[in-house]
Amino acid sequence: MDVYGLIGNPVGHSLSPPMHEAAYDTLGLNARYVTFEPAEDAVAAAVEGAGALGVAGLNVTVPFKQDVAALPSVATDDLASAVGAVNTLDFSGEQVTGHNTDVEGAVRALREQGDASLSGATAVVVGAGGAGRAVAFGLADAGASVRVANRTASRATDLAAAVEREVGGATATGGGLDALDGWLADADVLVNATSVGMESDETPVPASALHEGLVVLDAVYAPLETRLLRDAAAAGATTVDGAWMLLHQGAAAFEHWTGEDAPVDAMNAALRAHLD
Ligand code: ATR
Repeated sequence: MDVYGLIGNPVGHSLSPPMHEAAYDTLGLNARYVTFEPAEDAVAAAVEGAGALGVAGLNVTVPFKQDVAALPSVATDDLASAVGAVNTLDFSGEQVTGHNTDVEGAVRALREQGDASLSGATAVVVGAGGAGRAVAFGLADAGASVRVANRTASRATDLAAAVEREVGGATATGGGLDALDGWLADADVLVNATSVGMESDETPVPASALHEGLVVLDAVYAPLETRLLRDAAAAGATTVDGAWMLLHQGAAAFEHWTGEDAPVDAMNAALRAHLD
């Protein structure tokens, strides 16, 4: 039996176990997905121990993504290194490899559910924390010109500079939330990568800045129908909810681990059975 899992703290409410086990059931794989909560200072030992025990793959979540990216025992791919965070470890090769499928999750959700073509697009990312970093690097890597708006403007300008430095040919700019109105006027894509809207009916984006032709992804998935997505739909924009990003980061992790196409419909059904 292949063992996969998640390390984080806390992980009790994670939706990854049902999502991944639905994939194993669908494809008839003899595998299980379990959660682990190492102490905050034990992540290196946890990763080493997982390898020694023959664990096939691990997802990594808060607060360990940055710590894992810095482990010398992990060969982190270029994009995950640039983001500075790893959320997927693959133990199948001679060396443990680290990836960041949050990056692919945002890109695939926009392409597949939002029908967005990202190459040459103008994308606005709200948020410059962990999620904002993954989304900004993913969009730039996919060929979009990126504008990062954040409550703390300096974090946005720092992130934009890092994107331009690390992603060949990228253009990125950063600023405060007051830039949103002007930036959205000619934008093709908007992603909310802040926590605003989580368990609340708030939005970080003025409704008046939303327009037809915009594809809007909200990384928040609790609730699924956020105020931002309601405003976006009312403005005639295309909406993509946060469960799609969660799904596609999981599907990308599954594909790193197994080399097979993820059964996304089954994974999506399992995920949505746990969300409203
Ligand atoms: P995550 O890993 O989920 O991105 P994080 O690193 O703590 O979490 O980042 C949270 C993001 O949400 C940040 O961009 C934060 O803005 P600051 O950098 O100014 O802190 C943003 N955020 C959180 N609460 C916010 C609020 N009430 N209004 C606007 N932005 C907010």
